[in-house]
Amino acid sequence: MCGIVGYVGDRSCTDVLLDALEKLEYRGYDSAGIAVIEQGVIKVEKCKGRLANLRDKMAFDGKPEGHVGIGHTRWATHGEPSDINSHPHGNKRVTVVHNGIIENYRQIKEFLISEGYSFVSETDTETVAKLLDYYYTGDPVDTIIKSLAEIKGSYALGVMFRDFPDRIFAVRKDSPLIVGKGDHENFIASDVPAIMKYTRDYYLLDTNEIAVIKKDDVTFYNIHREQLYKSVHTADWDVDAAEKGGYEHFMLKEINEQPNAVKTTITPRISDSMPDFTAEGFDAAKLGAYNKIFIVACGTAMHAGMVGKYVIERLARIPVIVDIASEFRYRDPLIDERDLMIVISQSGETADTKAALELAKSRGADTMAVVNVKGSSIAREADMVVYTHAGPEISVASTKAYMVQISVMYLLAFELAYGVGRISKEQCQKLTEELQEIPDVIQEAIGLENHCQYVASKLVNADSLLYIGRGLDYALSMEGSLKLKEISYIHSESYAAGELKHGTISLITENMPVIAVATQSDLVDKTISNIKEVKARGAMVILVCGKEVVVEDGVADHIIRLPEVDQMLMPMVAAVPLQLIAYYTAVLKGNDVDKPRNLAKSVTVE
Ligand code: F6R
Repeated sequence: MCGIVGYVGDRSCTDVLLDALEKLEYRGYDSAGIAVIEQGVIKVEKCKGRLANLRDKMAFDGKPEGHVGIGHTRWATHGEPSDINSHPHGNKRVTVVHNGIIENYRQIKEFLISEGYSFVSETDTETVAKLLDYYYTGDPVDTIIKSLAEIKGSYALGVMFRDFPDRIFAVRKDSPLIVGKGDHENFIASDVPAIMKYTRDYYLLDTNEIAVIKKDDVTFYNIHREQLYKSVHTADWDVDAAEKGGYEHFMLKEINEQPNAVKTTITPRISDSMPDFTAEGFDAAKLGAYNKIFIVACGTAMHAGMVGKYVIERLARIPVIVDIASEFRYRDPLIDERDLMIVISQSGETADTKAALELAKSRGADTMAVVNVKGSSIAREADMVVYTHAGPEISVASTKAYMVQISVMYLLAFELAYGVGRISKEQCQKLTEELQEIPDVIQEAIGLENHCQYVASKLVNADSLLYIGRGLDYALSMEGSLKLKEISYIHSESYAAGELKHGTISLITENMPVIAVATQSDLVDKTISNIKEVKARGAMVILVCGKEVVVEDGVADHIIRLPEVDQMLMPMVAAVPLQLIAYYTAVLKGNDVDKPRNLAKSVTVE
């Protein structure tokens, strides 16, 4: 949600900023802008639309020449996407790029207007820039500290002062920001991929910390102006991981990376064919002692939690409550110190998930984060962290992160079930060994690509679709439906197959295709009955099921047969064709698959 970059060094700052912003465009793409110090003057170039528009604009205007600057790619919150509302904001003395929301910006704006300031944009960010100008003392750190004391909300800020043309400043509260450490050059960025081309070393900036970034050194302060000393982190993946590597889209690349991502995630957590979370600081006995488990997350991550619920409840017989983070935090949940809260998040920065985690902690519950981004806010706040090792996920539509999140859900379920004595060691080993086979089966499922492409060609003109399933298949349907709508813009809903006849079946006509998932042997006959009900009402049916399922002629228009695997693990296999169907439908519609409209990766606002 909004991307921030900054650079100080000997290279052409404009080139570095544009290059880094390109890697962050998945965070927002309503507009883009940069500010560069050119011969002692802050020069700003910004405009509505994609980064490509900014490049075109600069090809015409001429690009700022300098070695110190900040840049931004926007996901609009306050004020529509427009040239004026694009970042950076400020005046001749101070300029700012911002990610987050300033909650009290109206009050600050009114105050500044009463002090003689005028505003040109509708953004909350402009108030920060003008507030910094108002409090300017000649000492930037002092000015930032004074201004922050007035600001409520979440922010990551990149700041430049004209009077200090050799440096940039960074500060954050609840929105991500890292400081990249290069060789005679330093950076700021919302996310590591932005700077991977230049350095793999970075510092994590914590809430309420300020960084002063110069070419040869970076100094950190807390808001009491005490100097801080930080250790350097090194990204453990290489630059190729954040490139398309010959694929047409990141989404397709990431679908293809799933077998390896799962392998890399589960392998370190298995020893002697048993789940092993000792490195994460917990074991079966600890997990088994909780009264109930809450799994809280948003979007796709919440859907991974749904799979977790079915599997944990089935194997360990411990109650699991899955909640959407934005609902959990406002419904006074019945969680206490006897409970475990698992939050799932690719980015580790999702505002609602983070707030839910904080609420659980305040109620005394133990917290565990299943997170992909190392050192992210959620990872740092949780009591226990299980990192998924998907590598950077660039496509806004999540695929490989979902897959690794599910793989962790399975391992946790096995560990729990063993911990509470519901399964024997032998059973646990057998399940774990089956999970170890899954990467190969996912690979096989990727081989269904052509078939999925064909199915997509049948869906591309639909206005609306239903995904149906029962049990684990219903949990998976939710994800299939979300994937389709977010990138193809075709409306779809997932429905518990047995619930259809209680109202929603009235929607079924020959214009409403249905994708039915039926992988669970105990439920397959019932789902097929539900399929017959929609088929009888004219729907085109695409059935995703196991190889062995017997389907009478005429029940489904297209059948996608999945490679065989233990049915409990089927969601990891069946997810692949659903992802590919969504992908190819979006491609056929000519949509921008990796950057769907209105969306952004990493939702750091409520
Ligand atoms: C959909 C998607 C989103 C995210 C959700 C949570 O493809 O990616 O639904 O899953 O915004 O994000 P994280 O996992 O970063 O907390």
